[in-house]
Amino acid sequence: MTTIIDGKVFAARVRGQVQAHVARLREEHAITPGLAVVLVGEDPASQVYVRNKHASTVEVGMASFEHRLAADTGEADLLALVRRLNADPAVHGILVQLPLPGHLNAELIINTIDPAKDVDGFHISNVGLLGTGQKSMVPCTPLGCLMMLRDHHGSLSGMNAVVVGRSNIVGKPMAQLLLGDSCTVTIAHSRTKDLAAVCRAADILVAAVGRAEMITGDFVKPGATVIDVGINRVERDGKTRLVGDVEFASAAAVAGAITPVPGGVGPMTIACLLANTLTACCRANGLAEPEGLTA
Ligand code: GUN
Repeated sequence: MTTIIDGKVFAARVRGQVQAHVARLREEHAITPGLAVVLVGEDPASQVYVRNKHASTVEVGMASFEHRLAADTGEADLLALVRRLNADPAVHGILVQLPLPGHLNAELIINTIDPAKDVDGFHISNVGLLGTGQKSMVPCTPLGCLMMLRDHHGSLSGMNAVVVGRSNIVGKPMAQLLLGDSCTVTIAHSRTKDLAAVCRAADILVAAVGRAEMITGDFVKPGATVIDVGINRVERDGKTRLVGDVEFASAAAVAGAITPVPGGVGPMTIACLLANTLTACCRANGLAEPEGLTA
């Protein structure tokens, strides 16, 4: 029997843990964790994400600070806002929604965020800390994948993990996290020779390539755990559907466990953003970090 790893249930559990910890912080220390989200421009998908982040933040009892700026906002003004948020003691987490309009230097802006408040884990200091196995802020999507893998397997030590995709947001940090949990890690990508054979060696297969249903059942070792990070919109039978990077039916027939799309990794990303904000708040106040919600 293949286990379908239910990201909606898991994310609800994580949000519940965050909510309980936030309530304790308020009662015992009179502290409310705060998350600031900055959106520049009117990209429709980004507007939906930002709305969902705001609703989830408020739902777990945190303070949400939304900053919506015009698409033609200058770099100096955006940097000034980031510096103001860095200095604001009520703000424990800062997220600048990507993509930014083309005239803004995303790297410069991300690297201006105080690394301790960088709840996306994109700041170059956090990337370096993660790469050297030190305490850091960890990107939300890979953190969510790690939590699901640990929950399913307990220890990941000694397992063969293959990550397909080498992005800074998912592939590379995912590989670092799996290495941190003592997996033997391979990073594969679009130029990898005989990708199917490389993937078939994996006990843990993480698909983060951004190509609809590219990973089929013949890429999967019998009994392997398959984590599908992809969210791709495809037209099928005259309707728009969401599919992952994994062809679910053929992969599920071979896998031991698999995350569906939608309802797998996706819901974990915002839950981990809340977890990271809580972690940042605890660290800023010299308090114990929430258990099970960090790498
Ligand atoms: N845009 C899409 N996903 C993300 C994310 O995880 N963080 C940020 N900052 N922007 C995004």
